Amino acid sequence: MKGILHRLVNAQRGETKEDNKTEPGEIALLDSYSMSGIRVLQKLYSLGRDIVTRNIPGDFVECGVCNGGSAATIACSLRSTGKRVWLYDSFQGVPNPAEIDGDYAAQFAGAWVGGLERVKHAMRIARFPDEDYIIRAGWFKDTFHLPLPELVSILHIDADWYDSVLLALNTFYDRVAEGGIVVLDDFGHWEGCREAFYDFISQRHLRPLLERFGHTQAFWVKGRTNNREFSGKWEIPE
Ligand SMILES: C[S@@+](CC[C@H](N)C(=O)[O-])C[C@H]1O[C@@H](n2cnc3c(N)ncnc32)[C@H](O)[C@@H]1O
Repeated sequence: MKGILHRLVNAQRGETKEDNKTEPGEIALLDSYSMSGIRVLQKLYSLGRDIVTRNIPGDFVECGVCNGGSAATIACSLRSTGKRVWLYDSFQGVPNPAEIDGDYAAQFAGAWVGGLERVKHAMRIARFPDEDYIIRAGWFKDTFHLPLPELVSILHIDADWYDSVLLALNTFYDRVAEGGIVVLDDFGHWEGCREAFYDFISQRHLRPLLERFGHTQAFWVKGRTNNREFSGKWEIPE
């Protein structure tokens, strides 16, 4: 009864409760700022909420922001939590791919040039306070030398190529809190991303429990060794 009253009061105020299943209306608006598509954005939102529900400490880092659609969607899920958001992108498109990225990648050198103002606009749609996010514009090899977040709760890597993905993992993985989430956007789409993942886990002797969604995304929860707690449930996390 209390819950129903609470929802009625919020509905009158025009507010929706931010839970793991009902994503806010902003996500539909952010779709045009992202290359990922609405269903992927909805899943990213639910991963962000999962971090909050499980009280995982640390900030949100995105490597490969472009126009800010996925970043602002995850930021939506972290509103009013005190978590800060760190956004990394060249804003000059992707660098040249290497041989390991495959022949198909060669034609995309310099593709996906994002706009800093578009990112700020997306963050305004997400109603995420200006003072709580940092945009690091430039190549990862330079910007990753600037001060980094101490602790990361969710690391979203959407940077396509082997070198970019591996550098992002090497730079941030040790800062991801136990129970934090690492998302690879390009696992199924780009061979280089997948190779970077396999090289990284083999160098570190890690054996993460990899989850998939969409045709390309993969993620894992740091330290999680099995999904028995979800027994009988459909999706992880709910
Ligand atoms: C596919 S786009 C990101 C899409 C975005 N997350 C979205 O929601 O649509 C990949 C981005 O990664 C950036 N990127 C890739 N490698 C990079 C590097 N080494 N340094 C800086 N930016 C890089 C590119 O500039 C590009 O904007």
